[in-house]
Amino acid sequence: KPIGAGVEAGLESIRDGIAQGRFPARVFNDQEIFDIEQQRVFSKAWCFLAHESEIPDRGDYVTRYIANNNLIVARDESGEIHASLNMCRHRGNMMCKSEMGNASHFRCSYHGWVYKNSGELVGVPYMKEGYEGRIDKRDWGLIKVRTQTYAGLVFGTLDPDAPPLDEYLGGFQFYLDLYLKQGNSGSEVHGPPDHWVTETDWKIAAENFSGDGYHTPVAHQFGFNLGYFASSGATHSQGWAASIPGKGHGIGLGHTPGFPPFAGFPEELADEMRRSLSPEQVEVFSQTRTAVGTVFPNLSFLMQPFSIVPGQTGVRFVTMRLYHPIGPGKTEMYSWCLVPKDASDEYKQEAYRAYTLTFAQAGTFEQDDLENWARVTRSAGSTMARNIEFPYVMGMDSVRDPDFPGPGHVVKPYVNDSNFRNLWSRWSDYMTGQV
Ligand code: FES
Ligand code: FE
Repeated sequence: KPIGAGVEAGLESIRDGIAQGRFPARVFNDQEIFDIEQQRVFSKAWCFLAHESEIPDRGDYVTRYIANNNLIVARDESGEIHASLNMCRHRGNMMCKSEMGNASHFRCSYHGWVYKNSGELVGVPYMKEGYEGRIDKRDWGLIKVRTQTYAGLVFGTLDPDAPPLDEYLGGFQFYLDLYLKQGNSGSEVHGPPDHWVTETDWKIAAENFSGDGYHTPVAHQFGFNLGYFASSGATHSQGWAASIPGKGHGIGLGHTPGFPPFAGFPEELADEMRRSLSPEQVEVFSQTRTAVGTVFPNLSFLMQPFSIVPGQTGVRFVTMRLYHPIGPGKTEMYSWCLVPKDASDEYKQEAYRAYTLTFAQAGTFEQDDLENWARVTRSAGSTMARNIEFPYVMGMDSVRDPDFPGPGHVVKPYVNDSNFRNLWSRWSDYMTGQV
C-alpha cells in the first residue's frame, strides 16, 4: 500500500512487508519519510556524536548534528564531556561557527552573551542596566543533550526517556570491541574526519555497512581481479551475519578458510587482544577477515586487511563513519580512520594510508559504492518507484549457527539478508511509534 493512502497505514504496511522479506524502494528517497525519520528515529535513538580522542584536552570541542540540531560537544575544564545545543538562548544565534577547536567559553556574536563550554551562561551585557534583575543566569544556559559513552564513543539522545546506552546497544558491544579495543589502550581517531555531502540516502549506506558482502565481488570487482582481497569470488560468501534482534544493529563477519588468525595486526597487539578480550571474542575475531557493521541508526564501521602490494596481507585499517541525513536522498558523510592507540607510528601511518586509498572520501572502494548508491537514490525517487518493492528474502529460513560463540542472531553464510531485515524492522518500530 502506498503511503499516500494514509501515512500511518502506509508505515504499518511497510512493517508487515519486512516480516515477509519485502521493503519498498520509495523509503530511500522521500520527503515524507525523511520528515518522519527526523521526528521519530533521530529524535529518539542514541545517535553517535564524537570519539573521545577527537577532544582529548580540556576545552576541545567539535560540532555535530542530531537530526537537524547542531550541537557543541565539548570537554569542560574538569574533563567532563557535554553536548549543548549550538543556539544562543537570547535570540537563537548559532554560537560556535567552527567545526572543531578549543575554547573555555563561547561568546555570541550578536548581543554578546557568554557561555562556558559546559553550557552555563556566565555573561550578559548590560545585565544591571537592561534586565534590572529580571534574568537569572542559571535559567538561561545552553540546552543540554543527554550523553553516554561506550569504549570511547560518545552518543547523545534527544529523548529523556531513552533507555541507557548499554541497553540500547543490547550486546552489540561484543562486536564493537573488535574496532574499539584494539590493544590494551583501545583505539583513537587518526586525524579529523573526512566530511562531504553525497546524493545518497543514509539508509542505503547504513544497510550496506550492516553486512552487504553480496556487492563486494561485483561493485569492487577490480579489488578481486588485482588481488587486493584475501578472498575470492568462490570463498567470499563464507562467514557470518550477526545481528541483535529488536535492536537493529548488525555486522557481517567475512571468513577466509586458512587465513591466519589476527593477520594484519602487529604481533604484540594481537597478543594484547588475546589477553584482554573474552575467550569468545578471541575465537570470533581470530577467524574474522573482514568486519563490516552498523549501530542503528547511522554509525558504521569497517575493518579489513589491505596492502598496496596485491597478494600481501598488509595492515588492518578501520574506518568509522557517520551518515547525517540532510534531506531525502541527501547525506552528509563523516569518515574517520581509527587506529590502535598502542601501535607504532609506522603502523598508524600505514593503516591511515590503507584507509585513504580505499574508503576515505576519494578512496577507490568508496567511489565504487557511492556511484551505485547515488543511482539507487535517484531511481528510488522516481514516480514509478513509489509502488516498487525489493526482495529481502536471502537466508529467510536460516537458523542460528549453534556453534557460534557471539551474541545475537547469527547465521551463515556472511552473504545474507538477515541483518537487513533486522535493521529495517527496528527502523519501522521507530517509524510506527513502537519505540
Ligand atoms: Fe546571542 Fe543575542 S542572540 S546574545
Ligand atoms: Fe562497498
